[in-house]
Amino acid sequence: MEKLRVMSVFGTRPEAIKMAPLVLELKQHPEIESICCVTAQHRQMLDTVMEVFHLRADCDLNIMAPRQTLSSITCKCLTGMDDVIAQKKPDLILVHGDTSTTFAGALSAFYHQVPVGHVEAGLRTYDRYSPFPEEMNRKMVGAIATLHFCPTENNRRNLARENITEGVFVTGNTVIDALKTTVRPDYRFSTPVLNELPYDSKKIVLVTCHRRENYGAPMKNIMLALKQLAQTYEDVELVYPVHLSPVVRETVQAYLAGTPRVHLIDPLSADEMHNLMARCYLVMTDSGGLQEEAPALGKPVLVLRRETERPEAVEAGTVKIAGVEQGEIVRLASELITSHSAYEAMAHAVNPYGDGQACRRIAQAILWHFGRCAEKPEDYRGV
Ligand code: UD1
Ligand code: UDP
Repeated sequence: MEKLRVMSVFGTRPEAIKMAPLVLELKQHPEIESICCVTAQHRQMLDTVMEVFHLRADCDLNIMAPRQTLSSITCKCLTGMDDVIAQKKPDLILVHGDTSTTFAGALSAFYHQVPVGHVEAGLRTYDRYSPFPEEMNRKMVGAIATLHFCPTENNRRNLARENITEGVFVTGNTVIDALKTTVRPDYRFSTPVLNELPYDSKKIVLVTCHRRENYGAPMKNIMLALKQLAQTYEDVELVYPVHLSPVVRETVQAYLAGTPRVHLIDPLSADEMHNLMARCYLVMTDSGGLQEEAPALGKPVLVLRRETERPEAVEAGTVKIAGVEQGEIVRLASELITSHSAYEAMAHAVNPYGDGQACRRIAQAILWHFGRCAEKPEDYRGV
């Protein structure tokens, strides 16, 4: 029997981190030919992930441009994918999450009548402009996909509300699979400042912020809140790996450069980031991925957004929505910095997003769908 040609398409840092363990898992199956196609919507931040997980792309569309627009990313992906699909003739295309690469990858597969498997399916805020454009991207991919790999039962219910009930599997999130390979107690950082941080004597707050809907006033408020926290608490040090987006870098530099106890550093590789998270005190972020990883490592998270599509950890008590107003962000962070009981109430390890078996379940679901294995995978049941 011919091998099943499964092509994974991804382009940004978070997609790569979450697809890496799946690409590696697919390679283990003799019935599958695993093809790895990167759009390189992110160039440097993608390449770093490829290096950490020892991945090699079979096709590279190399589309990134400085200050790229949503339309330019989508157009370049669509055009590039035409040739790749014609050449590689995949039986299934896997896309991940909700980026422009995800949407264009799925749309391109549809144009070529290749079925799509959506990894990290069913996340919703029900606000089409927040996160922007991700909420609409994932809805459109949900409409196109044949197979939907939901991290949680809650995600499955979201799809059911849109009458998507066929081909839906609850697998856990592949980010937990990735995290299990990167975090080590004896890890030595290759970024010098991370080895020098006073993890035992001070409270290390890990910060990231990059979302398009936070550009402008919300990001300014967030920066002012961070500055106030650093100036108020001498026992706190902020570590902020700054995203390579020029919009983000300019804002961060304008408000935080030179602030004592604020370390502005370049983006970290996934293994550096995961191990820093494992050792920090608190995470403040608008990132989706960090909201999933930090709870698994027992770290409280303040979400620098108005909403989240990841309510599971909020319900479990380890994540709070801090919003994008300076006063409220400072209030919630201060509580965690000054009150031992408030901190302890949030700092417990929970794994609502996975048990590290998501990639195995997804591979099995693909084989089952194509009649190559008898057993459907069991659902991930959550904490
Ligand atoms: C994208 C995704 C967002 C995801 C984020 C993860 C879309 C619409 N947005 O947003 O969902 O949360 O990635 O980080 O798909 N840049 C570099 N080098 C890099 C990466 C980016 O220089 O390695 C710069 C470029 O100037 C680029 C800009 O950052 O134009 C913005 O990148 P882009 O992918 O358009 O948007 P993100 O904000 O990164
Ligand atoms: N990450 C990383 N280095 C950094 C910042 C984030 O490796 O400097 C990782 C993080 O651990 C998570 C993923 O990148 O796995 C999240 O990506 P990002 O915040 O860019 O996107 P989002 O998850 O918001 O889509």
